[in-house]
Amino acid sequence: MNQKADEFITFPFDKKSSEEMKKKSEDFYKLVNQRRTIRDFSEESFPIEVIQNCIKAANTAPSGANHQPWTFVVIQNAGIKKEIRIAAEKEEAEFYGGRAPKDWLDDLKKFGTDANKPFLENAPYLIAIFERKFEIGASGEKIKNYYVKESVGLAAGLLITALHIAGVATLTHTPSPMNFLNKILERPENEKPFLLLVTGFPSDGCKVPVIKRKDLEEVMLLK
Ligand SMILES: Cc1cc2nc3c(=O)[nH]c(=O)nc-3n(C[C@H](O)[C@H](O)[C@H](O)COP(=O)(O)O)c2cc1C
Repeated sequence: MNQKADEFITFPFDKKSSEEMKKKSEDFYKLVNQRRTIRDFSEESFPIEVIQNCIKAANTAPSGANHQPWTFVVIQNAGIKKEIRIAAEKEEAEFYGGRAPKDWLDDLKKFGTDANKPFLENAPYLIAIFERKFEIGASGEKIKNYYVKESVGLAAGLLITALHIAGVATLTHTPSPMNFLNKILERPENEKPFLLLVTGFPSDGCKVPVIKRKDLEEVMLLK
């Protein structure tokens, strides 16, 4: 370790009993197991503070060399949402109309998705998550970021989980390609769209596809 000792503080770790650990982990699993992606949003809004707190939570995610290579653009303006919908539907029409390989389209059939994306206008807030490929220093020089996709993926997962726990439903949306977000949201060239998170409440009677999650034995190996 080559950092000076005075740059460190003692970590205030709160050690729990095994029983408490088991209970907390089980409770957390039960809570996150209730999260579902929804695709039918009501127009009802909620306080921006909820979004701010959840982005504060996402901003605590671990990141390569603590560079935090992410930007979250929150969109509530109706005009901007409309622009995003028009641009996304144009890409999606090409995607569903032949650009996507047949296997991919077959895989998507069970979700009932198509090129129409009304939720991009109905939902109260869209959160465009950008990965910062590099930083630009004071004299215009490029500063490298590390493990950008891994870091932004962790932050995005934390954001979705924080929103779910706060009572906000989400749709992880990835119109492909998403470069139009740079233009509409006036983001610089060092930022690349990572995903577009649609947030809000489900519409009355909103339905979700029946899906199965893999069993623990399929995803975890103990050696
Ligand atoms: C990276 C990523 C991209 C996704 N893109 C889309 C998308 O563009 N449109 C969509 O309807 N769902 C999209 N989804 C949602 C998945 O279909 C959904 O998470 C999956 O079917 C599991 O369902 P659940 O989230 O309800 O557990 C995406 C999910 C991820 C993680």
